[in-house]
Amino acid sequence: MSATKESIHGMWANRWVFILAATGSAIGLGNIWKFPYITGENGGGAFVLVYLVCIAIIGIPIMMAEVLIGRRGRSSPINSMRSLALEARASSWWKYTGWLGALAGFLVLSYYSVIAGWAILYTFRLGAGQFTNASPQAVELAFNNFLADPLLLIAFHTLFMIMTLVVVARGVTRGLELAIRLMMPTLFLLLLILLAYGVNSGGFAQAVAFLFTFNFDQLRAESALVALGHAFFTLSLGLGAIMMYGAYMPKNASIGFAVLTVAGIDTLVSIGAGLAVFPIVFANHLEPGAGPGLLFVTLPIAFGQMPWGSFFGALFFLLVIIAAWSSSISLIEPLVAWVVEKGFMNRIKASIMLGVLTWIVGLGTVFSFNVWKDVTFFAGKNFFHSLDFITANIMLPLGGLLIAIFAGWIMKRTVVEKELNMSSYGLYALWTIVLRLVSPVAVLVVMLWALFQEQIKTWLA
Ligand code: TRP
Repeated sequence: MSATKESIHGMWANRWVFILAATGSAIGLGNIWKFPYITGENGGGAFVLVYLVCIAIIGIPIMMAEVLIGRRGRSSPINSMRSLALEARASSWWKYTGWLGALAGFLVLSYYSVIAGWAILYTFRLGAGQFTNASPQAVELAFNNFLADPLLLIAFHTLFMIMTLVVVARGVTRGLELAIRLMMPTLFLLLLILLAYGVNSGGFAQAVAFLFTFNFDQLRAESALVALGHAFFTLSLGLGAIMMYGAYMPKNASIGFAVLTVAGIDTLVSIGAGLAVFPIVFANHLEPGAGPGLLFVTLPIAFGQMPWGSFFGALFFLLVIIAAWSSSISLIEPLVAWVVEKGFMNRIKASIMLGVLTWIVGLGTVFSFNVWKDVTFFAGKNFFHSLDFITANIMLPLGGLLIAIFAGWIMKRTVVEKELNMSSYGLYALWTIVLRLVSPVAVLVVMLWALFQEQIKTWLA
């Protein structure tokens, strides 16, 4: 196999398109919706610190591994893992890492789309001035009434799935690249406008204290696992999304530079979202641990009280839609590409078929907020929370662990070195050590401790 060949699906025009596409995948609901609410649920500062450490010592090295595997394999994660295992004379079982990822992407998209649908409705609600001068209670009630209405949730879930599939069906160049080229400048522009607006509306201090005061007695083992899982989730790691995008990356672009850029921007956006949400939480005596509705209750309250609030509020939720959209396409692309490679059907049919399946599973998430609210599926959690927990906190770290082992121990060193092509040998050696030892051990320790702490405690006693 030659390292210069191109993917059959097409290629990004240049390295900047890869960086934009990967940043678009990384920045999404994870940064704007999920990060604030899980930080609230897990007590703030100590959680944020664990999350940042996970980004640095696990996320960045594993993202480099994903890109290099993808670019060397030049196909869907399932087939890239299969062909690279062959090249390294390793077991063909490695392709199941690709399968684990494809399944995880499918499951994540099923609930991702439902939540992105909320943002669509809220863009309209704010734009129509529905929350102007509304009391916190009224805003909360409006949100709860919305969640109680499965048909409305389904309508917006359907709309968002269609938006995602239209892009994916159009293919790498006319679909994904075109969408990224239009969406990312809009996303950054909206971010800048809202940042300027946020800085001028004041009320930072308490939020800064909440996010950056490290109070470790508040950190439960499960919180560390949530922080680890979120590091994977926010960087789009562990399921092959970045691997897929790496397959479309031009061969001479620097992987290290691209990955640091993506991870850096993603982290800044998360911290920015936290600094935007928590001042409002504290100023209005809301509950930081309110859960998935946090964003959809806090922000309408704040925008409802600000001059030009309907305009900026609608703009904000539009930003959420675009961020989610440029992420959702990366969740399903690996599976669509695999179906196309198999020759089962063309890209349009593959997108429709997988889209319908994802849509159906998404109904489970819709019902978790109303008719199935109290039905538990896994560890006392309802359908949505089970799915979120199993994908983000188990499947992604497990996928990441396997990817780290594969790139660190299984692939030929000459191939890895050539693909990474790092200018500094010291940095290359550092990456190798971290990927081989630090990341896998850290993932294993956090996972085993959080999932099996009762058993471990009895063994140790
Ligand atoms: N990173 C995105 C977010 O933070 C979600 C996402 C897109 C993702 N592709 C992924 C998560 C692949 C895990 C794996 O919203």
